[in-house]
Amino acid sequence: MSKQRVTRRQFLNYTLTGVGGFMAAGMLMPMVRFAVDPVLQHNAAGDYVVTDKKISEITAEPVRVDFTFEQKDAWYTSEVTNTAWVYKDENGEVIALSPICKHLGCTVDWNKDKANPEHFYCPCHGGLYTKDGTNVPGTPPAAPLDVYPFKEVDGYLALGKAEPRKEA
Ligand code: FES
Repeated sequence: MSKQRVTRRQFLNYTLTGVGGFMAAGMLMPMVRFAVDPVLQHNAAGDYVVTDKKISEITAEPVRVDFTFEQKDAWYTSEVTNTAWVYKDENGEVIALSPICKHLGCTVDWNKDKANPEHFYCPCHGGLYTKDGTNVPGTPPAAPLDVYPFKEVDGYLALGKAEPRKEA
């Protein structure tokens, strides 16, 4: 029966490898954690933001509703204010439109162009949209305004993330 002897060289090799590995793991773990941390966090995207607009106060006339929320971009949290143009259609349905022009991203305004009353107007290149957000042919925008999904929270309007309008 032979006893295997560990030479001094092997002992040093094992010890240094073990200690080196332990130290490397100690340095790498925080880096890995730092890199994947945002992935592990709960993603609030898609959540609704409650505005200060009461649903009962919304009329057929589009009004501007600003709403602020915290946005997380990886490790950076910032406060963002978005805007919606909100009104009730002829069926009493709430319509919430994004103000971002579909041409080059300027901000549209309601009823600001004297030549085209009752339209959303983009001052940058004269873009026009009808009240329901449909782009007027012959003006620069090539698509309708995005639409916010919404729900009612304790009587107040809550808005989700604006998305392109689904064609009927
Ligand atoms: S950005 Fe609105 S018309 Fe060009």
